Amino acid sequence: MSDIHPVDPAFAARAHIRKDDYQRMYARSVEDPEGFWKDMSGRLDWVTPPTKIKNVSYDPKDLYIKWYEDGTLNVAANCLDRHLEKRGDKTAIIFEGDDPNESRSLTYRELHREVCKFANTLKNLGVAKGDRVIVYLPMIPEAAVAMLACARIGAIHSVVFGGFSPDSLAGRIADSGAKLVITADEGCRGGKKIPLKANVDESLTRPHTNSVETVIVVRRTGGAINLQSPRDRWYHTLMEGQSTDCLPEAMNAEDPLFTLYTSGSTGLPKGVLHTSGGYLVYASMTHELIFDVREDDVYWCTADVGWITGHSYVVYGPLANGATVVMFDGVPNYPDFSRFWQVVDKHQVTLFYTAPTAIRALMREGEEPVKKTSRKSLRLLGTVGEPINPEAWNWYYRVVGDERCPIVDTWWQTETGGILITPLPGATDLKPGSATLPFFGITPAIVDTDGKPQEGACSGNLVITDSWPGQMRTVYGDHQRFVDTYFKTYPGNYFTGDGARRDEDGYYWITGRVDDVINVSGHRIGTAEVESALVANHKVAEAAVVGCHHDIKGQGIYAYVTLVAGETGSEELRKELIAGVRKEIGPIAVPDFLQWAPGLPKTRSGKIMRRILRKIAENQPDQLGDISTLADPSVVKSLVEERLIK
Ligand code: WTA
Repeated sequence: MSDIHPVDPAFAARAHIRKDDYQRMYARSVEDPEGFWKDMSGRLDWVTPPTKIKNVSYDPKDLYIKWYEDGTLNVAANCLDRHLEKRGDKTAIIFEGDDPNESRSLTYRELHREVCKFANTLKNLGVAKGDRVIVYLPMIPEAAVAMLACARIGAIHSVVFGGFSPDSLAGRIADSGAKLVITADEGCRGGKKIPLKANVDESLTRPHTNSVETVIVVRRTGGAINLQSPRDRWYHTLMEGQSTDCLPEAMNAEDPLFTLYTSGSTGLPKGVLHTSGGYLVYASMTHELIFDVREDDVYWCTADVGWITGHSYVVYGPLANGATVVMFDGVPNYPDFSRFWQVVDKHQVTLFYTAPTAIRALMREGEEPVKKTSRKSLRLLGTVGEPINPEAWNWYYRVVGDERCPIVDTWWQTETGGILITPLPGATDLKPGSATLPFFGITPAIVDTDGKPQEGACSGNLVITDSWPGQMRTVYGDHQRFVDTYFKTYPGNYFTGDGARRDEDGYYWITGRVDDVINVSGHRIGTAEVESALVANHKVAEAAVVGCHHDIKGQGIYAYVTLVAGETGSEELRKELIAGVRKEIGPIAVPDFLQWAPGLPKTRSGKIMRRILRKIAENQPDQLGDISTLADPSVVKSLVEERLIK
């Protein structure tokens, strides 16, 4: 039996959704999705309110997903203009820099003004509806301004995490055919500078990046950079004298809002495409109800805008709800391990949302850095990105939340646009380690490897049987890949790529990826990407990458490398290969373990048996299963003997 934390009656008394509301609304949402989602669309301001609500086929032979398809709206107007009358002077963004002495805030009126000016800037530079814009910025208000300015004129933004390398950035520029890149001179994290503009310069020397006409540079640190005329322009110079009026473009609900690149099982990262109407209905509704947001809350989600969490729960959801949002450009351990809680006290944060990996890293430092801060303002905590182990959950609950704050463990994906499985804090009894129950309109199911739905308490692969408005619509430029990746494995269902268990109370426990994606500190890394970065070195014949257990990161990266004949594995070569991965992808993809492999276990048809490599990396050599079908079973013995985790 797992621990149960019943809903706190005092919390429930003031909550948006209580137990009976959840049951009633959930039943309606799945019995009458059209009626339910028609009502929910009313939370937005539409130019033309939709009359067609849902038009979806999950048939892999004829797949389409449309929500609110005859409605028109502007996402930025929903996040800004409609708040001006009542919330014009309310703080929209509280910016907290890496340096604890740096903070500033913008009201909704000020943010609206900046967005209009930047939208006009983009227009003057020839950016039009449908054009792609790359955002490669630190966590500064200008990142939100850039995203919203794109949304205002109908340009499609693609935010690239500042930790990605010039090569990764180049790949995303090439795939999107972006016309413009917005970046900063340098980023600043944990006291260290990140050469963002220099990275952009380097990426633009790579093939297929000449679609970029303009690079806009925000002055962040004042560090020295090269400005290449006429391509490169300062943000502050361009903004001077721009009009603060910019009519929002009326967009169809199904017009693209953004693409965001994410790793999958195979190949290069794919551009997940989200559209306007359904995405914003879903992001804003989940944000309001899951975090139980009220007018006077100060909400802080620590995710970077380079990830989907930063899109839906730093920018779009909260701003559509007129909330006050903290944007933090620092890290949890700088200047010291109290930083998160110092920021909570400084800005009187009430709702706090972070990743299990951060909690585990802080837990290792003990209670003192937490306990010396007040945290009295907090009333709710959340986690996202990976399974949270009950030990970390309990520490978060007891030490950070003083046993006063419910924890919402929210399960979702870049592809889902918003949270799908989660507690509602006034309605759901909590079990540490479980993401609990589906949100409104979400129909999860657990299937076995043949796709047969399992009943009652069970475990298997997690699918969602029907669509919801926030779902991704396609892979940018490759619809077939969308169909193949998500809808072919279990026809008629959206396949999540995750494994899950359902307990006797119907609670879901996500067990992690069942495909070749590794979740490192809540960041998705495709094994294929790391392998291709390793084999890019001419001394490498072959590489296979799997996930392994890691105390802090959740999963670590374990690489098996076979060298070409005549090469031997030295410490020097190991460093060279690691540096290669860092350069091709970025620091987050660097292997934690790199084992020299004289050969890799393969089937007779030449397929690498990853299952076996995973077991070796998990230090479970007694659970390898049947290896008799391998082309050469003897390679396994030497891999087991030489394994790096014992
Ligand atoms: C994992 C992040 C367990 C899962 C929003 C999923 C989780 C992948 C949870 C998506 C959670 C996310 N419990 N696992 N609460 N949240 N995951 O696209 O494996 O960066 O498939 O989206 O993270 O990662 P992504």
